[in-house]
Amino acid sequence: MAKKPPPAVKLPFTPGDPRRTSWFKDARFGMIIHWGVYSIPARGEWVMQQEEIPLKQYEKYFRQFNPTRYDPREWARLAKEAGMKYMVLTTKHHDGFCLFDSKLTDYKATNTKARRDLIREYVEAARAEGLKVGFYYSLLDWHHPHYTVDSIHALRNDAKARAEKRDWLKYRKYLHGQVTELMSRYGPIDVLWADFSYGEKGAKEWGSVELLRKVFKLQPKIMVNNRLDVAGDIETPEQRIPKTIPQRDGRRILWESGMTFNDHWGYAREDHNYKSAAQAIRMLADCVSKNGNLMLNVGPQPDGRIPRESASRLKQIGRWMRANGESIYGCADGPTGDLPYGRTTRKGDTLYLHAFYWPADGRLELPPFNANLLSARLLKDGAALAFRQNKSGIVIRGPKSAPDKADAVVALRFDRAPASCGELTRTRVPTVTVPRTKGKDVVLDGHIDPAAWKGAATLEVTLRSGVLTSIRAIEPGAFGYRVRLMHRGEVLYVAVEARRKGGVLLADEEVLDGDGIELLADAALDGRWITNNRSSFRLAIDARGRSRVQDERPAGSVFYRAAASIKENIYTVTAALPFASLVKSNGKPVRAGDEIGFNLCAKSFRHPNWVDYELWWQASGGNVVIDRSQWGRLKLAK
Ligand code: GLC
Repeated sequence: MAKKPPPAVKLPFTPGDPRRTSWFKDARFGMIIHWGVYSIPARGEWVMQQEEIPLKQYEKYFRQFNPTRYDPREWARLAKEAGMKYMVLTTKHHDGFCLFDSKLTDYKATNTKARRDLIREYVEAARAEGLKVGFYYSLLDWHHPHYTVDSIHALRNDAKARAEKRDWLKYRKYLHGQVTELMSRYGPIDVLWADFSYGEKGAKEWGSVELLRKVFKLQPKIMVNNRLDVAGDIETPEQRIPKTIPQRDGRRILWESGMTFNDHWGYAREDHNYKSAAQAIRMLADCVSKNGNLMLNVGPQPDGRIPRESASRLKQIGRWMRANGESIYGCADGPTGDLPYGRTTRKGDTLYLHAFYWPADGRLELPPFNANLLSARLLKDGAALAFRQNKSGIVIRGPKSAPDKADAVVALRFDRAPASCGELTRTRVPTVTVPRTKGKDVVLDGHIDPAAWKGAATLEVTLRSGVLTSIRAIEPGAFGYRVRLMHRGEVLYVAVEARRKGGVLLADEEVLDGDGIELLADAALDGRWITNNRSSFRLAIDARGRSRVQDERPAGSVFYRAAASIKENIYTVTAALPFASLVKSNGKPVRAGDEIGFNLCAKSFRHPNWVDYELWWQASGGNVVIDRSQWGRLKLAK
């Protein structure tokens, strides 16, 4: 007999109910703030767990906590200036320290040098600036004596802690009690952002349904996230933006991508790997183009100030938002899906074209739509742009240089909502045919537009003695590429180098940028242009050898340098952490000419004296599939 499915959980609310959530959909952009006693060691909010710091030792940060520059009004002003509409602050993180005056614990701000409830001031500040108020609350608690010591507990290897008798029900009572405090003391709260469920603890352990019943009783208009292991109002992917529009049971859901500004949520003094304002703007447009929100993180310093790097970028984002906010607030996805050079968002009859990469000839191409285009104007300055619409699509004629390097938005007004569209006819990726001219220098002119693999830039190919060929492709003002081709017998090796301040394009559509990026990739293929077609490898390496990877996986922190190559028919991935040594693996042989797609992902945590890393990569091509991972610890040279 077939097993009966488990009874459906009856929730005390309707997930995504527009009466509670419509503001969230319009808002599109919010701030999350990670701040607590972990800001003092300044190695991220998981420091207690990663370095297995004993309680007694960790509590020293509690005694040191003295946020003399805590000014939540300043935080709120900054969020507002950036164009954000809501804020979420960690009332308690996994280390158990509470920023609020909980009656249920002594481990709270009131008992530090701050001597007051810091959450109250935050709530007042956010409200005063007209922002919605959210509470992040950690379900985990490595400080509470009754939180069972599980496999991810900070004290997991502490024999004494493991032997202690812990009474889970006491912890659950504490959790419910604290959430009740938060829900009843500060007036209306707009979001409860619980974090998080995992293998060993979920809805049953937290008592999620019961907890939510209490929450909705006290705060009937609140929104809740999805990390209590039951459906929530919002899905919360972190460190990634979904590739397609998220749905549940065939219906669209509300979602929000949480992104760190550098590679940590909590303040990390050594981590200067900040995303540029342009990157954040593109992330925001990317989220809205998939009907979602972006929640960007800041990790204030121990004294309470938001790091300068974040603050200055938030102001830059704000400047862009003031000119282009119309293409974000209240907008949903446009019908085009991802375009090779940007994204589209839509509100009513207007489609907003977000051009991340401006074609060198100023021609923006769009697919055919089911509506007639009435006008095209640049949001930045209102300038009207000429356009042509016919059966095969729309071509807009813009200026030759990018009106906005981060994201130039063109508002396209149609005679009705442009709800569907055809395919964008894309010019094929140009093939570089290398003539077998021995002993002669050959210069080939081709065209490569790094943004769309079509259009404008000139490609120069030089062959010397039939052995070494160099190709240079330069798109004016944007990308510089250097491609080296080397003949070795039957095999032609191609090395690609791309340099650009502010951006790099690696695969056919994967775009990443950062400051002073330099990218190195080696590959061999049989006389064909390297396209990396099936790859979702996204890697940017900056001038100082630091890199940033984005992937479908929550990649978290990344500090490494990597290169992938095929030499002598061996697929090799090498990755070197800049601090110390080299990780290397030889894969299975592939045949020359095989097209290789690869995925490389890394995550590392830097400790004072060592680096823990995790690398995983997959490669597939021809008849080969490689799927590997590796982790370990590297001692840092003194
Ligand atoms: C994670 C981490 C955490 C961070 C959160 C933000 O689950 O545990 O430190 O607060 O995500 O999304």
